[in-house]
Amino acid sequence: MSGYNALAEVYEWLISDVKMAPAEFAASFDDVLNLLPPNAHVLDCSCGTGQLAVGLAGRGMHVVATDASEAMVRRTAELSEQFRAPVRTARADWQELPEHFDDDTFDMVFCVGNSLHHAEGARGRVAALESMSRLLHRGGRLVLTSRTWELVRARGSRLEISDRLVRRNGRDAVVVYRWDIAPNWEDEHHIEIAIAQLDAAGSVLARSELLSSWPYRHEELEAELRRVGLQTELSTFNLEAENYMVVASKA
Ligand SMILES: C[S@@+](CC[C@H](N)C(=O)[O-])C[C@H]1O[C@@H](n2cnc3c(N)ncnc32)[C@H](O)[C@@H]1O
Repeated sequence: MSGYNALAEVYEWLISDVKMAPAEFAASFDDVLNLLPPNAHVLDCSCGTGQLAVGLAGRGMHVVATDASEAMVRRTAELSEQFRAPVRTARADWQELPEHFDDDTFDMVFCVGNSLHHAEGARGRVAALESMSRLLHRGGRLVLTSRTWELVRARGSRLEISDRLVRRNGRDAVVVYRWDIAPNWEDEHHIEIAIAQLDAAGSVLARSELLSSWPYRHEELEAELRRVGLQTELSTFNLEAENYMVVASKA
């Protein structure tokens, strides 16, 4: 189960400026989007608040957006209406995707913004990747972005408090991450995220959520992609960078 329902209403305080604007978020994937045919069919299978899905729809693609969190799916549908950019939405866990869509439906599947670590261990991850792979046409591509979990684990358990106020919708907030790093890679880890909004009168409104996480090494991810019939075409993995992108195509 995803624990993002409480975070959905304050999710913009967690994302970067680039992700706030649908067109800009989509443009950050220009290199892979340029590989798509006109009117491509694309799926964002952990859509969050929908900026990527809406940005893709704004380019004329046929876009489906799914997420395990009902509240996230609702926010995506609202954003789609606001931008008049049609996005079909559904609440679906990755493993449920084949119940919603036929095999070979999409030209590209996106699983971005550090989502896959919420799949339960190696078994859950492979099941999730298997679903994504099934839905792709032959030659279609999975685009996945990830934290560099090797770095996260090396830093150990810690409290991370934003060193600046984050301003969204005219409101400032302090963002806090509590990383609970388990002894072994394969153990369940926890990340507690708190957003404390401050108003001019000094009141504090806090929202927080405790999330489960199963980090993975880049090399494990590569092997798991191969297991589900996906061939890595590009990986920006670099042990010194916080995040990386993998693009893998269906053989
Ligand atoms: C860190 S957010 C990323 C959201 C968005 N892709 C972005 O880049 O801002 C992770 C998302 O994955 C979703 N998620 C977590 N577990 C999931 C699962 N098992 N199936 C589908 N979505 C899941 C969460 O609900 C959340 O919206």
